[in-house]
Amino acid sequence: MIHARITGTGSCLPGDPVSNLALVARGVDTSDEWIVERTGIRTRHLASAGTATSDLALEASRMAIAAAKLAPADIDLIIVATSTPDFIFPSTACLLQAKLGIKGGAAFDVQAVCTGFIYALATADAMIKTGMHKKALVVGAEVFSRILDWRDRGTCVLFGDGAGAVVLEASDKPGIRASSLHADGSQAGILCVPGQVAGGVVSGDPFLRMDGQAVFKLAVKVLDEVARETAAKANLPLEKIDWLIPHQANVRILNSTAKKLGLPTDHLIVTVDRHGNTSAASIPLALDHAIRAGRVKPGHQVMLEGVGGGFTWGAVLVEM
Ligand code: UT7
Repeated sequence: MIHARITGTGSCLPGDPVSNLALVARGVDTSDEWIVERTGIRTRHLASAGTATSDLALEASRMAIAAAKLAPADIDLIIVATSTPDFIFPSTACLLQAKLGIKGGAAFDVQAVCTGFIYALATADAMIKTGMHKKALVVGAEVFSRILDWRDRGTCVLFGDGAGAVVLEASDKPGIRASSLHADGSQAGILCVPGQVAGGVVSGDPFLRMDGQAVFKLAVKVLDEVARETAAKANLPLEKIDWLIPHQANVRILNSTAKKLGLPTDHLIVTVDRHGNTSAASIPLALDHAIRAGRVKPGHQVMLEGVGGGFTWGAVLVEM
């Protein structure tokens, strides 16, 4: 049987960290106390005007490819999860492929908002397991700052820019043990950017809109359910999960999820305090930070799980 293993990770956070007080100084009607108490976020990174999603993806990808001891030319599949692509088309994955100086392999984007990386990883896993591809680059990358309404304090303090990447390779040893993907399109309105470009103008609303409390409640519910579902598929008792890496949205959501699953918080990876909610980038960013900090190690059982607009949710159980 062909398995798919993560053999390298990388990440990128653009520029210097921007503190909560720096947002107050920019005129956002908020406070460091409110943001820290309600979300756990202390800083985020904001890409400069000339920096695109593919630039952040490139930096994270180069790190991941180097960590896997490969060259870009070895990659035969690129999947980028993003809701803030460089262009309407071509895909950010194609632009990333060109920036890596390679051609010929498959390249496409996945749009599942904050669950995008989980969708992309599960897709790459399936494509490797069928023998169709051998060495995949799976990336979550965003410039969410471009779709924030800085007059809406209920959303603009929460998000940031960044990228994370993994190399996934065919192997005879397990790797990705189980995946679960879900969506409920009837909940589209609770987290959306309800605008479009038509006839040369933006119609509708080009900014992120969110019903924070509705998202919070649904997130805690589905993150619990999907981690249980995915562990059960692999016959892994929950207490054998070495690390839980949920989408980094809000420290209260992370802690509630770990608590509901009966996992001590020292099995929970938290990086949201440093980069805010980077949507599709947050899970590979947190994974890369945890590997480079020496916390996640070879052989560990790692539950990656995401939730976000769509509404979408999913999990991937990985043996590192
Ligand atoms: O990838 C998934 C993305 N989304 C999420 O993860 C968001 C999930 N939701 C949340 O994390 C929380 O709902 C929030 C952090 C967004 C909000 O926390 P909350 O505890 O649900 O606060 P709230 O919306 O009920 O607002 C409480 C108060 C309100 O004031 P009043 O009406 O009580 O006077 C808000 O106007 O806090 C006020 N408020 C703020 N105050 C200072 C809202 N945003 C801010 C702010 N600074 N940035």
